[in-house]
Amino acid sequence: MERTLSIIKPDGVGKGVAGEVIKRMEKAGIRICAMKMVRLTPEQAGMFYAVHRERPFFHSLTEFMTSGPIIAMVLEGENVIARNRELMGATNPKDALPGTIRRDFASDVEKNIVHGSDGPDTAAQEIKFFFNDLEIQR
Ligand code: RTP
Ligand code: MG
Repeated sequence: MERTLSIIKPDGVGKGVAGEVIKRMEKAGIRICAMKMVRLTPEQAGMFYAVHRERPFFHSLTEFMTSGPIIAMVLEGENVIARNRELMGATNPKDALPGTIRRDFASDVEKNIVHGSDGPDTAAQEIKFFFNDLEIQR
């Protein structure tokens, strides 16, 4: 069993597609074992996306990620890191396959509705950023 961190970003919550995103995960047989709605401070958003600190889009990204509440979730399942990223689609919705979350709902490469961890190490690190052990259902 694998775990990953999923975030419904401020645009996803704002557009009212959180339910649809969650429905797609459940339909895919992915188990949600933790969930919370939070609003990140600029410092927290900067910490979460620290790997992108040197990128030209970093400031815009942290501004966007603090522009409204987000829904953070821990997902569990076999191969769930890759399967969640399949449901999400490519970072840029223009490159995302039809039927993926980003192709169906995202407006551009930044406001792309969802985040998903990209590997086992980042998943473990990102889950810890949002949840302690007591908040994750076994
Ligand atoms: P995420 O980390 O959010 O799951 O997305 P990802 O792996 O598909 O993409 P990544 O390269 O990790 O980028 C993180 C987020 O930064 C924003 N972004 N903006 N303006 C741009 O060119 C640009 N590129 C990336 C997106 O919100 C992306 O999801
Ligand atoms: Mg990423």
